[in-house]
Amino acid sequence: MANFQTLPGFREFYPEDYAQRRYVFQVWRQAGRRFGFQEFDGPALESLDLFKAKSGDEIEGQLFCFEDKGGREVSLRPELTPSLARMVAAKANAMKLPIKWFSIGDNYRYEKPQKGRLRCFTQFNADILGEKGPAAEIEMIALTIQTLLAFSLTEEDFYIRLSDRELWMLYLEALGFREDVKPAILSVVDKWEKLKEEAIRTELNKVVGERSGELWEAINSFLKIDHLEDLSGAFATLTGAAVIKERLDQRLADWRTLLSGLEAMGFGSFVRMDLGIVRGLAYYTGFVFEAFDAKGEFRAIAGGGRYDDLVKKMGGSDMPAAGFGMGDVVLCELLKARGKMPQFVDKADLYAVIGGDEERQMALADIARLRRAGYIVDYPFKTPGFGKQFKAASASGARLALIYGSEELAKGVVKLRDLNDRNEIEVPRDQLLSGVQRILEE
Ligand code: HAM
Repeated sequence: MANFQTLPGFREFYPEDYAQRRYVFQVWRQAGRRFGFQEFDGPALESLDLFKAKSGDEIEGQLFCFEDKGGREVSLRPELTPSLARMVAAKANAMKLPIKWFSIGDNYRYEKPQKGRLRCFTQFNADILGEKGPAAEIEMIALTIQTLLAFSLTEEDFYIRLSDRELWMLYLEALGFREDVKPAILSVVDKWEKLKEEAIRTELNKVVGERSGELWEAINSFLKIDHLEDLSGAFATLTGAAVIKERLDQRLADWRTLLSGLEAMGFGSFVRMDLGIVRGLAYYTGFVFEAFDAKGEFRAIAGGGRYDDLVKKMGGSDMPAAGFGMGDVVLCELLKARGKMPQFVDKADLYAVIGGDEERQMALADIARLRRAGYIVDYPFKTPGFGKQFKAASASGARLALIYGSEELAKGVVKLRDLNDRNEIEVPRDQLLSGVQRILEE
């Protein structure tokens, strides 16, 4: 027997599910617009090379890739960021900076389907290109918070973990590690919360050999820092402290600008300094952040950061960039768990109740006119008794039933019944539209 099941990690949306999906998109879109971002999209299918080099090892292993009929190595997009960087690289000279763009679209990753993780999920992406200072991060983090607040989530429900790959790079430099091993060390830091100590030590050993014990200690004490004021102290005793001092001071100033900007917007209390976040994607260069539910029950709701080199790697000019992606899967799980996901019914405005074939002709003409005027109008395809039709009218959620019986036909009127209070009025057919308008918009 053929297997007609959906593929693992792919969803289908029945109307009531799709109504929730539409709600999520509406809130995302409205949040993006309120921050002055413009909507765009890239292709769902790209050449494999675009993601191979740009997204990093973790995503590379999850690509939904294949050879197309023209012999091209292609992949469904696991994320939007490389396509965005290419789009901007191609037209950077002609574009007014900063670029503030958002997008809502499906992404594909061949992950093990589990709570919060599917193989096809939808992401809200928002990115700012052309701003190298923390003003961009203030806006990105504020948009993440504002979006989650717009879903009626509160400070009790979520928070932002804020970290900084640049600070990590300075720390590793001050510890005397070479430039070329730093990304590999950060990959291990990325797994710090997920792996057991034993496994982490083994991984570190692979990267830095005999210095792994010392590095393990150093990383652990760095991870404990959760206040900006404690940072200078953590660097002070390191061998290379003097060499990086100026850059560290500059970086701490950036941190202060970022935190005070968020404070000014009223979002200070949502943000926690947490150096445990380094992000798995290869292209991040500076501040990185993730949004989590406060109870720690779910995976990250959103994640992002600065990626200043990606546009250049796509053949563009120097173009600083920062952005984030928020997935719909964890978000919807969280909204449902906290009782914050509304139930929706697709309602009609009007429902026609029809006596017989002759009346149907009259009704069809009026229904078409009312629909052209913008009303949602439904009616039965067959003509059962009035009782059944009124039941259907109520079930449709319509406020008014339009009654087409033989009496109405003879008088050239339509009877409008208010389905809430059962009041009825008769309206001449040529005044039907204004009659309906008066009642529905009163
Ligand atoms: P990411 O952290 O890979 O970042 O994904 C962002 C969010 O997408 C995650 O926090 C999660 O909610 C959701 N997500 C990721 N993978 C899955 C999955 N398999 N199933 C369900 N949800 C998932 C990025 O994608 C970056 N491109 C974000 C970005 C934009 N950075 C800069 N601009």
